[in-house]
Amino acid sequence: MRILVLYATVEGHTRKIAETLADEFEASYMDVILTNVSDPGYCDPGTFDAAVLCAPIHISRYPSGFVKYIQSWKSSLQEVPTVLVTVSLAIASDEADERKEAEGYPKDLTDKTGWYPDQYYHAAGALKYLEYDFFKRWMMRRISDSEGGPVDTSKDHELTDWPALRAFASEFANKIKSGE
Ligand SMILES: Cc1cc2nc3c(=O)[nH]c(=O)nc-3n(C[C@H](O)[C@H](O)[C@H](O)COP(=O)(O)O)c2cc1C
Repeated sequence: MRILVLYATVEGHTRKIAETLADEFEASYMDVILTNVSDPGYCDPGTFDAAVLCAPIHISRYPSGFVKYIQSWKSSLQEVPTVLVTVSLAIASDEADERKEAEGYPKDLTDKTGWYPDQYYHAAGALKYLEYDFFKRWMMRRISDSEGGPVDTSKDHELTDWPALRAFASEFANKIKSGE
């Protein structure tokens, strides 16, 4: 079985999430094509047995290249089982309102594109304090503080629940293989 794992990323963390998903699908004996949405080349999701699309939220939005890909391939995406993996910090917030907002990000995307994935998965992202410039570090620390997140700017923080992500991938692979 062939599975497409396509991702967009701004700071690299969603690539790591997509690579983890790809590893888990390979461990489930699937042929995986892992690709960045910005890579050139023809990548029709309709030619796969399933497609997993992963993207981060930056300023409440998915990357524009990711939205354009979905708009271009919407009809192919409707033909195969699909998952949308949304990466955000708000999903890991202590505040219920913030988590609710994060759960709403996919709706904006589906309303805009008319693509309705079969499954949705929310993964908590990363705070890359060491890579941010002064202003971004200050801003992200403030946001993180307000959400009960990490505020130690002397290091990066990964909030992703890796075992849960792997378990999700393995479950999805079983589902595709059993034709459910
Ligand atoms: C400038 C900036 C804006 C962000 N905006 C949001 C946001 O609106 N909501 C949210 O939940 N997370 C937000 N995040 C957190 C990112 O979703 C998180 O850092 C994610 O891991 C980024 O993935 P990437 O490394 O693949 O780009 C933001 C991060 C940055 C640096």
